[in-house]
Amino acid sequence: MPRLFDWDFAADPYPAYAWLRAHEPVRKTELPSGVEAWLVTRYGDARQALADQRLSKNPHHHSERGAHGKGKVGIPGERGANLMTHLLNIDPPDHTRLRRLVSKAFTPRRVEAFAPRVRELADALVDGFAERGEADLIHEFAFPLPIYAICDMLGVPREDQEDFRSWAGMMIHQPGSPRGGVGRAVKRMRRYLAELIHRKRAELADGDEGDDLISGLIRASDHGEHLTENEATAMCFVLLFAGFETTVNLIGNGVYALLRHPEQRAFLQGAVMDGDEASLGVAVEELLRYDGPVELATWRFATEPLTLGGQRIAEGEPVLVVLAAADRDPEKFAAPDTLDLARRDNQHLGYGHGIHYCLGAPLARLEGRTALATLLRRLPDLRLAADPDDLRWRGGLIMRGLRTLPVEFSPIRK
Ligand code: HEM
Repeated sequence: MPRLFDWDFAADPYPAYAWLRAHEPVRKTELPSGVEAWLVTRYGDARQALADQRLSKNPHHHSERGAHGKGKVGIPGERGANLMTHLLNIDPPDHTRLRRLVSKAFTPRRVEAFAPRVRELADALVDGFAERGEADLIHEFAFPLPIYAICDMLGVPREDQEDFRSWAGMMIHQPGSPRGGVGRAVKRMRRYLAELIHRKRAELADGDEGDDLISGLIRASDHGEHLTENEATAMCFVLLFAGFETTVNLIGNGVYALLRHPEQRAFLQGAVMDGDEASLGVAVEELLRYDGPVELATWRFATEPLTLGGQRIAEGEPVLVVLAAADRDPEKFAAPDTLDLARRDNQHLGYGHGIHYCLGAPLARLEGRTALATLLRRLPDLRLAADPDDLRWRGGLIMRGLRTLPVEFSPIRK
């Protein structure tokens, strides 16, 4: 049995996942926090578990809840800040109601209309370091892009967006952020969002048009279904929380994979130069499958005894679906460890599956395509400026991503 959750594992978990898939595809494991959970690593079992309504998202079903398990599942600070009632923590019928509401505001049309702004953001970030000939792509590009994008979409005024950048940095321990500030950052974000929602509500009542996402959410809830103040705040919080570190890692892991596969990168660079949007879209899906941002789907808890992959899971036990392992399952994907940016019929689980399927997938795809196209177009000789063995991966449980991504390129003079 290979070691899980140590340094070597963080750098490359795929051999350990291959072992689990082959030998113990549904395995009870002690996590670094001390909580025991079932890890599900085969594609078929993973897809089945993600769609199984007997697996609840509500942490109240956790059998270790109470003194021992308390606070060990979920987002640090989330409980204290009363943000628990968000999509990733609830089941139908509440989930159905809230998802329907937000879907009315978070429409593919709204995302599409946002494309020019994402391009502008990506270009402005590249302008910030283009003259230097070197950069840390996580800190200077992958991290700020999704924060500004989701803030703009929600309707957070530009002058307040730096606060979000700093809170978000605290939440994922960006260099320069104070340690241990996660709970504090979550609380500040919550207070800010609650006030913003309150303000937008008043503006809408005064007849303001308000075409941002928060206004859309308020309008959707005022026409029929009900959304409490707390649910509205939790909704905005989950959009931010689910939408930023994931996208940071999509860009970071994606660029890193390209830099390590020169032929694939040359292929994509050609597609970008030809303005071939379709190939770019296909490539982003493969980058998600190959080394996606969400290593494990968020927590699920058995509401009754059930059998998965031949294993008996008891009521209250946590189940973690390992998306990164499922997406390299040879039973599902030909040559699963090969990066093939032209891979067709790529039914990866990087965005999950079932009723909790990623709500932000259209925005994530737009950001991923725009980020890669901007970098490849503007910095055509982009290269890694570090030994891959020296790069550090974040140790979090759910997400997979680099702490830094040092690169160099021919400087662009203004
Ligand atoms: C759910 C992945 C970007 C909002 C999920 C889930 C996955 C995922 C795997 C399901 C989790 C589970 O079932 O436990 C990703 C990836 C992204 C990304 C890989 C980037 C590449 C975004 C963005 C947003 C977003 C940009 C919003 C702005 C959400 C929300 C949910 C979700 C709200 C919960 C949906 C529900 O429970 O109904 N995402 N996500 N995500 N994602 Fe994303």
